[in-house]
Amino acid sequence: MNKLETIISLAKRRGFVFQSSEIYGGLNGCWDFGPLGVELLRNLKESWWREMTFRDDVEGVDASILMHPRTWEASGHVAQFSDPMIDNKTSQARHRADNLIEEYIDRMIKKKKTQLAIEIEEKLLVATEPADFYKIIIDHQIPDPVSGTCDWTEVRSFNLMFKTFIGPLEDTSSVVYLRPESAQGIFVNFKNIMESSRQKLPFGIAQIGKAFRNEINTKNFLFRTREFEQMEMQYFIKPGSELEWFEYWKDQRLNWYADLGMPIDKLKLKVHDKLAHYANHAVDIEYEFPFGWGEIEGIHSRTDFDLSRHTEYSGKKLEYVDTVNNERFIPYVIETSGGVTRSLMAFLCNAYTEELAPSEIGKMEPRTVLKFHSKLAPVKVAVFPLVNKDGMPELAENIYHDLRKSFMAQYDTGGAIGRRYRRQDEIGTPFCLTIDGQSLEDQTVTIRNRDTMLQDRIPVDNIKKYIVDLLG
Ligand code: GAP
Repeated sequence: MNKLETIISLAKRRGFVFQSSEIYGGLNGCWDFGPLGVELLRNLKESWWREMTFRDDVEGVDASILMHPRTWEASGHVAQFSDPMIDNKTSQARHRADNLIEEYIDRMIKKKKTQLAIEIEEKLLVATEPADFYKIIIDHQIPDPVSGTCDWTEVRSFNLMFKTFIGPLEDTSSVVYLRPESAQGIFVNFKNIMESSRQKLPFGIAQIGKAFRNEINTKNFLFRTREFEQMEMQYFIKPGSELEWFEYWKDQRLNWYADLGMPIDKLKLKVHDKLAHYANHAVDIEYEFPFGWGEIEGIHSRTDFDLSRHTEYSGKKLEYVDTVNNERFIPYVIETSGGVTRSLMAFLCNAYTEELAPSEIGKMEPRTVLKFHSKLAPVKVAVFPLVNKDGMPELAENIYHDLRKSFMAQYDTGGAIGRRYRRQDEIGTPFCLTIDGQSLEDQTVTIRNRDTMLQDRIPVDNIKKYIVDLLG
C-alpha cells in the first residue's frame, strides 16, 4: 500500500471517512464523514470561522445552495464553467484533456526531456478552445495511460454544473443548478449585508458551505470530488487598493495553515501564469500531498467583475457610496477561496506519522499517530481505569462524565494500557488520563501527552484547567 492508500484505510477503519452509499457499491466522487471525521470537519470550520469573522470588518452569511438561474449566467458559469473532455476509443477511458497533457509534461520532466516539456507547456498556457487541446494531444501523440494508444475522440467542452428542476415541471423554464461555488451567494447578498450591518469599505463577507461540480475525473480521495465544501470570503475594497489587500490576505491565509501545524516547507505559493478573464492577480496555496503538490486554496483579485455583472443582469445597482469623498463606484474584490474537505485531507495527510516509540516496558515499537494540532483533534481526551477493579472504574467514569460536558472525550477499559494509548494515538487524541491505585489514595491522575509520550501527575480538580491551558 502506498502512503495515501494507508491513510484512506485508517480513515475508514477509525471512522473518519467512508465511501458514500458503500453498501450499494459506492457513488463516485462522494464521501461520508463518520463520527471522528465530522468532529475534525467541525473543528476545521470553527477555526476558519473564528479566524475570518471574529473581527470588525468581516460579516458572515449562509446562502441557499439553489439560486436564481440568472446568477450563473451573470457569473459566467453557464457559458464558461466547463472542462475539455476526451475519450480513448480503445480503453473507453475518459480524461480531462488539460490534465492528460499536464501529466504527460510531468512524465517528460521525469524522463529529463525538458525541452519537449517546455514546448508543450507553452502551448498549454495559451490553449482555451477544445480544438487547441486536441491539437496538442495529436501533434505530440500523447498516449492514453490506460491503453497506451492514441486513438482519441475529438475534445468536447463539458459544463460541470449539476442541473435540476425547481417545482413539478421538468422543462427549460424550471432549470436550476446546484451551486458550483459558494462565492455567488456572497455577491448577490452584497447590498443586503452592507446595509443591514452598516459596514463601510473595506469589509468582507464570509461563508462556509457545500458546492457541487460534475467533475470529469474524480481522484485522490477527497482532493477532487463531486460534492465538497468550501470556505470563502470576499473582501470588498476601493479600486486601486487591490494589490495591498491581495498581499495582506495571502499572508493571512498562509499563516492560518502554518498556525494549525502545517510545516512551511510543505506549503508553497503558486502564482497563476494564466489569469481568469476577471482577475488581475491570483495565487494558489499548495500543499505537498503524498501524490505531489496540489492547490488547497486560491487567493484572487477579482476586480469589479462579479458586482458589475450582477448589476447588469439583475438591474440592481451594486455600488458603494463614499459619503466622505462624495463618490460612487463598484467595489473591487479580493477573494480567499479554500476547500474545507480538501484541506481536511491535507491536515489528515500532514498529521499521519509512523514512528518508533518506547513501549510501556521500554522496548522500541512502531506506532501510528495522527499528530493533529490540538484545536483540530476530534477527541481531546481519553480516560482509562488502569484495571477494571478496586474502585478505579467508578472514579474513572465520574471523571469521564464530568469531562464529557466540556470536551469530546472517550472512555476505554479494553486491553492493556499500552494498547489503549496506541488506539488514541491512531486517532490523534492529545491527552490520555489514567486512574490508578494512587488516584484512589490522593485524588491524582496521570496525564500523558500524545507527542512527547511523557506523563504528568495532576490533581483531579486541575484536569479541566490543565487541558484548557494546553489546548489554547
Ligand atoms: N470562488 C472561487 C472558486 O471556487 P476554485 O479554485 O474553483 O475557486 C476553490 O475552488 C477551492 O475549492 C479549491 O482551492 C479547492 O480547495 C476547493 N475545490 C474546488 N474544486 C474541488 C473539488 N472538485 N473537490 C474538492 N475540493 C474542491
